[in-house]
Amino acid sequence: MNLSELTLDREGLAAAIACEDAAFDAALREKAYRVKVDTVGPEVYLRGLIEISNNCVKNCLYCGIRRDIRCPRYELSEEEVLAAAHVAAQRRFGSVVIQGGERTDAAFIRKITRLLKAIKAIDTGDDPPLGVTLSLGEQPREVYEEWFDAGAHRYLLRIESSNPDLYRKIHPSDHSYDRRLRALYDLKEIGYQTGTGAMIGMPFQTAEDMADDLLFYKSFDAPMIGMGPYNPHPETPLTLTGAPFPSAERRFALGLKMIALLRLLVPDINIAAATALEVLDPRGREKGILSGANVIMPNITPEEQMVKYNLYDRKTLMRDSAITERIVVGYGRWGDSKHFRKKNFY
Ligand code: 5AD
Ligand code: SF4
Repeated sequence: MNLSELTLDREGLAAAIACEDAAFDAALREKAYRVKVDTVGPEVYLRGLIEISNNCVKNCLYCGIRRDIRCPRYELSEEEVLAAAHVAAQRRFGSVVIQGGERTDAAFIRKITRLLKAIKAIDTGDDPPLGVTLSLGEQPREVYEEWFDAGAHRYLLRIESSNPDLYRKIHPSDHSYDRRLRALYDLKEIGYQTGTGAMIGMPFQTAEDMADDLLFYKSFDAPMIGMGPYNPHPETPLTLTGAPFPSAERRFALGLKMIALLRLLVPDINIAAATALEVLDPRGREKGILSGANVIMPNITPEEQMVKYNLYDRKTLMRDSAITERIVVGYGRWGDSKHFRKKNFY
C-alpha cells in the first residue's frame, strides 16, 4: 500500500491497519509526527502516574489483577499518594494520574475525595496547581460528581473495544458494554475531559474492529486517547483459552500505527504513548511520540508496590528511564488537549 492511497474512512483505515509493509508504516508515522508538530506542537506533556491500588471488583478476562487472580494486593496510604504527588510537583510534571482497580466501597471513594483536595492544595510555586486525572473505572454518577467537585478535571475510562460483541468476549457476563458507554457519557456531561481507548492486537480482534475503535474516538469527540497493545498475562482466562493473537512484533507495529492513524484522523487531541508499548520495546514510548503521540505517564508509584500492579508482565519495564532527556517536555503546565480548549472557548 502507498501512503497516497490512504483514506480515513472505515475501509481505508482497515486497509492501512491490515497492511504489513514496513515502508508504508514508516511513511505513515513520519507524516503523523509532522501533523502533530504542526497542530499541537513538539511538546510532550507528562502525567505522573500513581497506581493507588491493585484491588479490583471486576474480573476482566485479560487482566492480571482481575478479582479471581491470586496475587499480592496493596493499597497506597494517603501519605504515600501525597508524597508521590509532591515528587510530581517538584519535578514540574504539571499533572498526575491516579489509577487503580475498580473499587466501590465508601471508604475508598472518600479517600479519593480527600486526596484530590490535598493534591490541589500542594504548593507548585509559579505553576498552576497540579492537574489531576482519575482512572478508577466505572462509578455511579454521584461519585464522578463528588470527585469532579473535589478538583479532578480529567478521567480515563477505556472502552476496551468499541465492538459490543468483542467487548462481550473479553469480559465476564456481569460486565456490560452499555454500562461502560453510559459511564463515559456521564463523565462527559459532568464536564470532565474524558479520555478513552482500547487494546490493540487482542484475540478475536479484526482490522475492521480497530478501524471502528478509531472512528469511535472521533465520534465520541474524545479530547484524549490512551490505547496500547494487548500484552498477554499467563494466568488470565483469555490467555488460557489459547486463542491466537498477533506476535509481539506485530502488536508493537500496530500500536504505533494506531497512534499515527488517530493523529491524522483527529489532529488536535492528546494521545498517550502507553506503558504497554514500553513492554514490547525498551524505547516504545519514544517511538510512540515519533508516531504522533504527545503525552507520557512516567510511573511515580513507590517501587515496592509498582511491581504488584501487574496488568500484564511488566518485568522488562525500566523505572521512568531517562526519557525526559530525549524529548521536548512541556513542564509545569496541565497540557490540556487543544481540542477540548477549542470546544470550550478558553
Ligand atoms: N494487556 C494490555 N492492556 C491491559 N489492560 C488490562 N490488561 C491488559 C493486558 N493484558 C489495560 C486495560 C485497562 C488498563 C488499566 O489496562 O485496557 O483499561
Ligand atoms: Fe479491574 Fe481494570 Fe483489570 Fe478490569 S482491566 S480487572 S477493571 S483493573
